[in-house]
Amino acid sequence: MHGVLENTLQDQEGNGLRIIEIENDFCKAKIAYRGAQILSFYNKVQQKDLLWCSEKSSFKPQKAIRGGIPLCFPWFGANKNNVDLPAHGFARNLDWQLANIDFDAQQGHRLKFVLQDQAATRQIWDYAFQIELELQLGQALKLKLNVMNLDQQAFEFTFAWHSYFAIQDIHHTQINGLQDHQFLDQLTGKMHQQTSRVQFDQETDRIYQQTQQSYQILDQQKAIIGIQSKDCPNVVVWNPWVEKTQRLGDVALDAWRKFVCVECGQIMPEAKQLPAGQSIQFELELQIIAE
Ligand code: BG6
Repeated sequence: MHGVLENTLQDQEGNGLRIIEIENDFCKAKIAYRGAQILSFYNKVQQKDLLWCSEKSSFKPQKAIRGGIPLCFPWFGANKNNVDLPAHGFARNLDWQLANIDFDAQQGHRLKFVLQDQAATRQIWDYAFQIELELQLGQALKLKLNVMNLDQQAFEFTFAWHSYFAIQDIHHTQINGLQDHQFLDQLTGKMHQQTSRVQFDQETDRIYQQTQQSYQILDQQKAIIGIQSKDCPNVVVWNPWVEKTQRLGDVALDAWRKFVCVECGQIMPEAKQLPAGQSIQFELELQIIAE
C-alpha cells in the first residue's frame, strides 16, 4: 500500500503547519513545507521511529520547528557578520515549493523541494540562488542537497543537516566513528581530540573536523542508527541537557534524554566557496539498523 496526503498540523497555540504525509511498504513519514523539513520517519519493518520531534514545537510563521531534520543554510550557527540575523540561516524558517513527487515500488517515494531567493532572503543575503532538497523515503532515508549559484558573483555558505535522532536514553547513548578526530568544543571555544566513542553526561556542543562520514549511534553498546554522508567534512554533536533545555522553551523539560543531534555538513575551518553559475551537491543516508 502507498499514498500521499496533504495535512495541516496545529501547535498548542493553534498555529497551523502544512505538511505532506507519505506511506509505502517501508515507512511512514511527515514532511513540512517549512524548511522542506522531515519531521518523522517511521520504519514499518522494524517498527521504530528514526527521528525525534518536540511535542512543544511552535509553528509560528518564520520560526524553526524543533525536531526532525532542519536544514541550516546558508550559515550554520550565528551569522559571522551580524549576530542579529536568524541563527542557522533562513532555509529552515521559509516555506519551500514542492517540485515533484514520484513513487517506485522498490525504492519508495521521492520528493523534491526547491527554495529560491526572494525578497525575504535578499534583505539578509543578497544573492540569486536555488537550493533543491531531494528526500528518498524507502527502507532508508536519503537526502540530497543541490546548491546552485545563479548570481553574477561567487558566494560562500556553511550548512548542516541538523538531524534530531530518537533514542531511549542519552545516558546510555554513544556515537561511534568520531575517534581520533579533532573537535571544537562550542561551550569553551577550545579544540580537543576525541579518543573514544562519544558519551554524554552533560551539555554537549561540538564541531568535529575532517570526519570519515560514517557513524553509528549506539544504545547500550549496540548500533541502532547508521549515518553515512558524502562531501560533508564536519559533524556537530549536540545535546542541551537540563539547563539549556529550560532556556529553549520549545522542548519539554525532560525531553533532552530522548534525542541526540548528529549534524553532518560543512562548517569549519572554512565556508564552501561557490563560483557564479556553478552548483554543488551533498548527500546523507540514514537507517535504523536491524536488531
Ligand atoms: C546546534 C548548535 O547545532 O544547534 C547549538 O551547535 C545550538 O549551539 C543548537 O544551541 C540549537 O539551535 P537552535 O537555533 O535550533 O535553537
